[in-house]
Amino acid sequence: MSNTCMFCGKPYHVERNEVAGRIMTLSVPSCDCEEREEAKLRQAEEKAVKMRRVEALRLPAIFSPYWLKNLQCEHAADAQIYVEGFRPHKSKGLFLWGPNGNGKSTLAAVICKELAWRGYRARFTTMTETLDRMEQGAGFNRAQQAQRTLKELLAYDFIVFDDYGRENYTPVRLQNVFQIVDKLYTHQTPFCMTANPECIKRIADIPELEAIQDRMGQVLTSWEFTRASFRREV
Ligand SMILES: Nc1ncnc2c1ncn2[C@@H]1O[C@H](COP(=O)(O)OP(=O)(O)OP(=O)(O)O)[C@@H](O)[C@H]1O
Ligand SMILES: [Mg+2]
Ligand SMILES: [Zn+2]
Repeated sequence: MSNTCMFCGKPYHVERNEVAGRIMTLSVPSCDCEEREEAKLRQAEEKAVKMRRVEALRLPAIFSPYWLKNLQCEHAADAQIYVEGFRPHKSKGLFLWGPNGNGKSTLAAVICKELAWRGYRARFTTMTETLDRMEQGAGFNRAQQAQRTLKELLAYDFIVFDDYGRENYTPVRLQNVFQIVDKLYTHQTPFCMTANPECIKRIADIPELEAIQDRMGQVLTSWEFTRASFRREV
């Protein structure tokens, strides 16, 4: 063993201890460099684990640059409070609504990232994607696939359905969307919808969706987005 610190060069000192009647000598560092280096490595490893959880969300690349700390958004402060106080099965969900292009999907994705970073199981999807998954297969297989998809959703602590109301509703889809919302509602899984006024209007006239709106009104906190589109700024 070297008798100087490999980081700062300070010489080690010798410690004598009596063990079972025998004097043992031990060369020990006079500084805490080794401990600090170990702590740094541990921190880097923890950060890598958190980053891998965020990457596992497989979010679209457009959301990559954004985190709560660098997001100029009218609800960034609300979102900070939300993620810091997040409790699976206890927190309310979110309904982010407002006109086109003002950052609803981006904030929803950032909330997923922040929750994944903190160790929660989050998922970012669209209602269309989830309904498509439920409808894969035919006959009995399709019914099983629908049940499997619903069960998969229950593995998450927080789920975003981006662009609610943009999907086209067939009678089967109306049943399935009810099943999705009702499943999350009864299991008290917080979920988040983003929607535009025109999509909200589209589905407002579908009587079968009333029971869904009712449940959503109870379990989702509504954040209205009012600013002009970022897309028109460039
Ligand atoms: N806080 C922000 N600061 C700067 N750019 C942003 C911000 N939020 C979103 N953007 C950019 O603005 C564009 C629209 O964002 P986003 O898709 O989140 O809006 P949206 O409200 O979901 O739109 P839509 O209603 O059409 O679904 C994207 O290019 C996005 O990168
Ligand atoms: Mg959007
Ligand atoms: Zn040292």
